[in-house]
Amino acid sequence: MSESVSGRRVWVTGHRGMLGAAMVRRLEGTGAELLLAGRSELDLTRQSDVYKWAKENKPELVFHIGAKVGGIHANATLPGDFLRENLLIQTNVMDAAFQAGVKKLVFVASNCTYPTRAELPIKESSQLTGALDESIRSYAISKIAGIEMCRAYKLQYGADFVAVIPPNLYGPGDNYHPEHSHVVAGILRRVHEAKISGAESFVVWGDGTPRRELLHVDDLADAMLHLMNRQTDWLYNIGYGTDLAISEIAALVAEVVGYKGAIVYDKSKPNGTMKKLLDSSRINQLGWFAKKDPKLGLKEAYADFLSQLNQPERSRLG
Ligand SMILES: NC(=O)c1ccc[n+]([C@@H]2O[C@H](COP(=O)([O-])OP(=O)(O)OC[C@H]3O[C@@H](n4cnc5c(N)ncnc54)[C@H](OP(=O)(O)O)[C@@H]3O)[C@@H](O)[C@H]2O)c1
Repeated sequence: MSESVSGRRVWVTGHRGMLGAAMVRRLEGTGAELLLAGRSELDLTRQSDVYKWAKENKPELVFHIGAKVGGIHANATLPGDFLRENLLIQTNVMDAAFQAGVKKLVFVASNCTYPTRAELPIKESSQLTGALDESIRSYAISKIAGIEMCRAYKLQYGADFVAVIPPNLYGPGDNYHPEHSHVVAGILRRVHEAKISGAESFVVWGDGTPRRELLHVDDLADAMLHLMNRQTDWLYNIGYGTDLAISEIAALVAEVVGYKGAIVYDKSKPNGTMKKLLDSSRINQLGWFAKKDPKLGLKEAYADFLSQLNQPERSRLG
């Protein structure tokens, strides 16, 4: 079904995170009545609390965004936490929403749910066709279970649940923690620190040739609203459409930050998956295309990083 958000009770989980905050920004002015509960009011891992909250607050539409999120280091050291917390959170939210009679739910998965050797560009049909990246396997399996829940609830109960698969996200509100950040936030922080300390060079892991597709969070929030407003299937890739080599990302970030030193590649460190470009033709056929050019988007991300430095109370610098 297609569901307009105007005048509807819309639950956004994880609204204080990077994507959740972008979703709230995107919903401003749409006439949606927002239902927001941060972790201190509602811990999404607590089953009975989540069911009680959904019963009392009667959401009609849900953007399920809240999850335990982290970079390679966090995933390598805390795989049990990633698996347990994400399975609990998404099972609680999706079933409580279903029991409360929610009309439509959009769930955010991740591109790490695709096999490392999926054919490029990666189509939705590549799900469950091969082995996953070992370094992020527990998180990926939790997200695969969430995608399957959308499919299974649609099949068995006719629930209008749809999962979306974004590539690497970046934008305002990102997490710049030295051990928990993703690729763009990590590079941005280290380039900024190199500039401030006057370092002659800045080190990037690997040889710089792996390619990554970057999507600004505002684009993803816009795509999720687009899907909420339309009749949909249960799984969509949501990408920018082109990817950049890590060396190009590092050069762009250096330009945006104003860092004049050299970029040095530490080839003794692993490259990771060489290419992950998503095939986003299914959502493109529904009339949605990403808009934010990475250079412009990175300028905004850097402005946000600088404002986090100046506002320790909202900072995610670690
Ligand atoms: N960032 C990426 O590159 C990327 C890529 C692909 C997919 N995704 C997916 O996109 C979604 C949003 O990611 P993000 O980057 O915006 O992450 P984020 O900034 O870390 O935000 C996650 C949000 O979830 C909340 N949360 C976590 N555990 C919770 C719990 N037990 N109870 C209540 N709230 C809880 C967090 O609350 P606190 O603020 O209290 O911690 C935070 O508000 C996630 O589902 C993630 O898997 C992200």
